[in-house]
Amino acid sequence: MAQIFDRSSNALARMSLVLSGLIVIALGVTLNSLQRSPWVTRQGQRAQQPIPFSHKHHVEGLGLQCQYCHTSVEKSSYAGIPPTKTCMNCHAQVWTNATLLEPVRHSWATGESIQWIKVHDLPDYVYFNHEIHVNKGIGCASCHGRVDQMPLMYMENSLQMEWCLNCHRNPAANLRPTSEIYNMAWTGPSSQKPVWCGTTGSNGPTSQAVNCTTTDPTANPQVAMLQEPATSALEQNKKLQAAGLGPMSGAIAGTAVSDQSPAILVPASYQKFTSQADLGAYLVGRYRIRTPTELQSCEVCHR
Ligand code: HEC
Ligand code: HEC
Ligand code: HEC
Ligand code: HEC
Ligand code: HEC
Repeated sequence: MAQIFDRSSNALARMSLVLSGLIVIALGVTLNSLQRSPWVTRQGQRAQQPIPFSHKHHVEGLGLQCQYCHTSVEKSSYAGIPPTKTCMNCHAQVWTNATLLEPVRHSWATGESIQWIKVHDLPDYVYFNHEIHVNKGIGCASCHGRVDQMPLMYMENSLQMEWCLNCHRNPAANLRPTSEIYNMAWTGPSSQKPVWCGTTGSNGPTSQAVNCTTTDPTANPQVAMLQEPATSALEQNKKLQAAGLGPMSGAIAGTAVSDQSPAILVPASYQKFTSQADLGAYLVGRYRIRTPTELQSCEVCHR
């Protein structure tokens, strides 16, 4: 009798140990997922802005470029929010009486800034910089999602440390040509949509010295001609004119070309890429991306 009682109480004790263990784990998991939940990170939420500004209308609808309003994104740590003046460039003429735009007109008349609510807001102890990401081939959409499809702005990604590290661990998966930074629909190269890249060599292997194109450069007579051993811009243009093509345009050359310019920043030859893995590996080298270990060191983001 005593033995049976002992055994069952042991089982009971063991059972309660296991149970309380489970409860602790469950609590941990709950707190952990709560800390990561959209409710805490504000991921996906639409802020109550003073004006219901639509990126979808202004970007997709009107075709405005991001830099038209976020002017400093390529040259500073901040992308910046446009001043009222930028809105008035158009809204002094269109939708001039709309009640939705009353806060814009009030701000313009009084000089008081529009009080936009920050949608993305890292804690102060985290260092972030737009310039380096954008100039090293990370597109806006990789971090902010399809902004051109957002009637109201929201945060696509959590901006938690784990999210940053996920990319810093393997940046190659997200690198694109710097010419595609603002392309919201970029999906990387495939065999149906190859990308051709070449280095110009003149400034060393930095992002500015990489030239990529999504149209076959060997099918374009202007670019094909430029693949011949580099001569002076003047001679190149003479050659092009002789071929009835007119002078080389800055868009193709990647830089403005004048008769005085000694060298042309056009790759001597292009390499074809049909997968993100290959393009990423190539760009890691050309953009001089640090190793994943270096990019994950605490001092990169906590200085
Ligand atoms: C016509 C001006 C205009 C254009 C063009 C524009 N934006 Fe904006 N953007 C704004 C304004 C105004 C805000 C602040 C209001 C809001 O959050 O919706 C904003 C906010 C943002 C925010 C959130 C800022 C925060 O509070 O964290 C992001 C991200 C953003 N824009 C990205 C882009 C991208 C990417 C493009 C190009 C695809 C773009 N914007 C084009 C005017 C513009
Ligand atoms: C390049 C011109 C241009 C600029 C710059 C511009 N808008 Fe607009 N905006 C328009 C036009 C055109 C419409 C009408 C769009 C439509 O109905 O398709 C519009 C519509 C709107 C509307 C009405 C709702 C909607 O999206 O259709 C709001 C609100 C608005 N703009 C706010 C702003 C704010 C705030 C800024 C400055 C950050 C701004 N706009 C900058 C041209 C512009
Ligand atoms: C590597 C990720 C990343 C990329 C790429 C990126 N952003 Fe951001 N963006 C952020 C983060 C993180 C914040 C919040 C910064 C903070 O709170 O200090 C932010 C904030 C913003 C803001 C709010 C104002 C500001 O300057 O803080 C705007 C506007 C913005 N981004 C626009 C853009 C545009 C336009 C592009 C593309 C040219 C872009 N971003 C590319 C991560 C990114
Ligand atoms: C989609 C990819 C991606 C995401 C997401 C991303 N980064 Fe980066 N980050 C990069 C790349 C690529 C570089 C450039 C590395 C190099 O040049 O060696 C970089 C560089 C940096 C640098 C170095 C800047 C300097 O001047 O040395 C900082 C700081 C940084 N990232 C912070 C962040 C923070 C904070 C977040 C999250 C809020 C973040 N990054 C998210 C890809 C990313
Ligand atoms: C790529 C950028 C990046 C790197 C590298 C990085 N962190 Fe962070 N860290 C962040 C961001 C972003 C946050 C803010 C997270 C949030 O807002 O929830 C953060 C938050 C933290 C916090 C606050 C608690 C938390 O988890 O939210 C601690 C502690 C921390 N980091 C420690 C470290 C240590 C230690 C290292 C080096 C092993 C490191 N971090 C490397 C971006 C980074």
